[in-house]
Amino acid sequence: MAASIVGLDIGHGVLRAAEVSQGGRSKPKLLRYHEVTFPADATREGEILEPDVLVRAIKQLWTAGKFKSKDVVLGVGNQRVLTRDLAVPKVPLARIKETLPFLVQDLLPIPVADAVLDFYPISEGVNDTGPVIHGLLVAAAKAAVLANVKVVQQAGLNPVDVDLVPFALTRALMKGRAGGGTVALVHIGAVTSCVVVATDGVPQFVRIIPSGGDEVSSALAALGLDVAKVESIKGTLGLLRDAYVSESVAAAETVIKITEELLTTVRNTLTFYTNTRPTDPIGRIILSGGGSRLRGFPAALEEFTRLQVELGDPTERFAVAKGFDELRLPTALPAMSVALGLTLRSAS
Ligand SMILES: Nc1ncnc2c1ncn2[C@@H]1O[C@H](COP(=O)(O)OP(=O)(O)OP(=O)(O)O)[C@@H](O)[C@H]1O
Ligand SMILES: [Mg+2]
Repeated sequence: MAASIVGLDIGHGVLRAAEVSQGGRSKPKLLRYHEVTFPADATREGEILEPDVLVRAIKQLWTAGKFKSKDVVLGVGNQRVLTRDLAVPKVPLARIKETLPFLVQDLLPIPVADAVLDFYPISEGVNDTGPVIHGLLVAAAKAAVLANVKVVQQAGLNPVDVDLVPFALTRALMKGRAGGGTVALVHIGAVTSCVVVATDGVPQFVRIIPSGGDEVSSALAALGLDVAKVESIKGTLGLLRDAYVSESVAAAETVIKITEELLTTVRNTLTFYTNTRPTDPIGRIILSGGGSRLRGFPAALEEFTRLQVELGDPTERFAVAKGFDELRLPTALPAMSVALGLTLRSAS
């Protein structure tokens, strides 16, 4: 049997893992998927504060999910990961990567020595200085990436790769049939969201947004509602103002106001992209992330952006193994795309 790898997504108070075997020419096979929760304050904005809590949770995840492989691909995409559009003189990619530290110091909020840098070429052009390559600079705090790698090692596993979460999502949701033409992916998490615009599955533009579904939860909690009530309001009433009973008007208004702020950020991000590439309009939106399950969110996003919104299905690129508990998939779908996309790194 082909060797399998596990994509591990460190979410907000939840770890998700998907084990996949590479299928040679056929589709990779989804062998198992599992999630475990951990105290959310062990991370902050995606950064690990309490490594021991994470190590325990990872071990528990491997036991409960019966994962066979120890080879792990990790995602990074928290709020301290910076993505910037960057044009560099046209030279071979290896050379660009070597000279990145000298090119980008002024763009970074942290010293270059403390950052992991990467450059993804997107297109070629010419500016005042001559031929250039337009691409995406990705810069992450070294300490934060190493902390993620370390908890995986301490749990007895073997981190084989680290990938940017928006790229993992692009692979899971925008390649192949689902991703033809220029499409925007909108992923709404708990504390971090992102927007990717891709043409025929190749990312052109990436933005990480430091906000997500938990802003609604915090605002509802501030009205004195308990956690169970908050989650039930988000899932069943959400943005449907008329569904709320009269005494919870304040809750309805809170959910709508906070969500409209996030929708405005998403719309402005898309408008920014469209203004920079007026010849390449966005055809539609693919939506993912647990935060997108707020009742009424897809319709509100359509209304805000005037674009058609589809729910992403990260399992499309996979064959699902026999005996896999498929019934569990529908509820987990919006949240499992990162873990699944991480396994596609080598198959992209
Ligand atoms: N059925 C639902 N209805 C409404 N909101 C939901 C539902 N399920 C999950 N959410 C919300 O989705 C958010 C979690 O999304 P997700 O699981 O994608 O985030 P995460 O990966 O754990 O965190 P992050 O990526 O931000 O670090 C939370 O705000 C949660 O309340
Ligand atoms: Mg997430």
